[in-house]
Amino acid sequence: AKDPVRVLVTGAAGQIGYALVPMIARGVMLGPDQPVILHMLDIPPAAESLNGVKMELVDAAFPLLKGVVATTDVVEACTGVSIAVMVGGFPRKEGMERKDVMSKNVSIYKSQASALEKHAAPNCKVLVVANPANTNALILKEFAPSISEKNITCLTRLDHNRALGQISERLNVQVSDVKNVIIWGNHSSTQYPDVNHATVKTPSGEKPVRELVADDEWLNGEFITTVQQRGAAIIKARKLSSALSAASAACDHIHDWVLGTPEGTWVSMGVYSDGSYNVPAGLIYSYPVTCRNGEWTIVQGLPIDEFSRQKMDATAQELAEEKALAYSCLS
Ligand code: NAI
Repeated sequence: AKDPVRVLVTGAAGQIGYALVPMIARGVMLGPDQPVILHMLDIPPAAESLNGVKMELVDAAFPLLKGVVATTDVVEACTGVSIAVMVGGFPRKEGMERKDVMSKNVSIYKSQASALEKHAAPNCKVLVVANPANTNALILKEFAPSISEKNITCLTRLDHNRALGQISERLNVQVSDVKNVIIWGNHSSTQYPDVNHATVKTPSGEKPVRELVADDEWLNGEFITTVQQRGAAIIKARKLSSALSAASAACDHIHDWVLGTPEGTWVSMGVYSDGSYNVPAGLIYSYPVTCRNGEWTIVQGLPIDEFSRQKMDATAQELAEEKALAYSCLS
């Protein structure tokens, strides 16, 4: 039998945490033959509720779950973890300035970066979910210089999955038959959901989404805005932000990163830019990636048209501004 893997979830007493920890304990993230030990971190005001989640995990009697650490101590939470899913953060409250929210999250991600660097297992893979996800991941990278930049990512898989879902509904095909959409850039409303390279499996072979939809006005307009604004639509309907879909996407992200993407398929991940596609280096930017042997690689050589170029640059510009704002919070 395999040795258990320690998986950290921060903000585990929150909404996404509540949906995510049972998925991990059931093997959705790391596979049905991989035992896990869950490390759950939250802040002292949430300690009692966090303990309630631990009680429910015990009550669920998950066969793969070999232990649960529920703590408000960052060092205890980070010790020995091979996977870290960073869901905890400071939410924007009414009347708060963007800079104030940024400043709170910068200080959280700075201190958690140091704890991970000192106490996590070597080669620990980090996924930042909490918003502003790309910039929180960048801060984490800056303050954990000994963790390889290859190991620090942020979640845009939810946006990717939302794009697959919209195409599948529009064409009335199985979502599992749609692939290779791309989310470029920031996990924010400036993200660019791109279907120019996406295909659908049909009885007569793989067909481009553009050819099957045959409605450029929808693809260049409503499709994009629907994906960009889906988070807001969920909040309007549920009075709470996306949780089960975010948790599921976090599992997909880690699953594919660790176990690999299927041949001929790519997924979207926020990763440290090396300047690919003329995106400024040094931003955490969402790209199409393939994964193999536990490492992601940016898909290269896709042709980019003028429409896409503008949208890719606009979201990069927003990330550069967020980065500057984050740095101004440090001084
Ligand atoms: P929530 O407010 O229900 O839970 C957040 C939890 O984090 C709370 O339990 C809180 O006590 C905890 N927390 C706060 N500061 C912490 C710290 N320093 N250390 C550890 N835990 C801390 O929020 P929810 O709905 O679970 O969302 C979590 C985050 O995920 C938010 O930032 C949200 O904007 C973001 N999000 C990102 C998505 C993505 O696709 N990247 C999708 C949906 C949400």
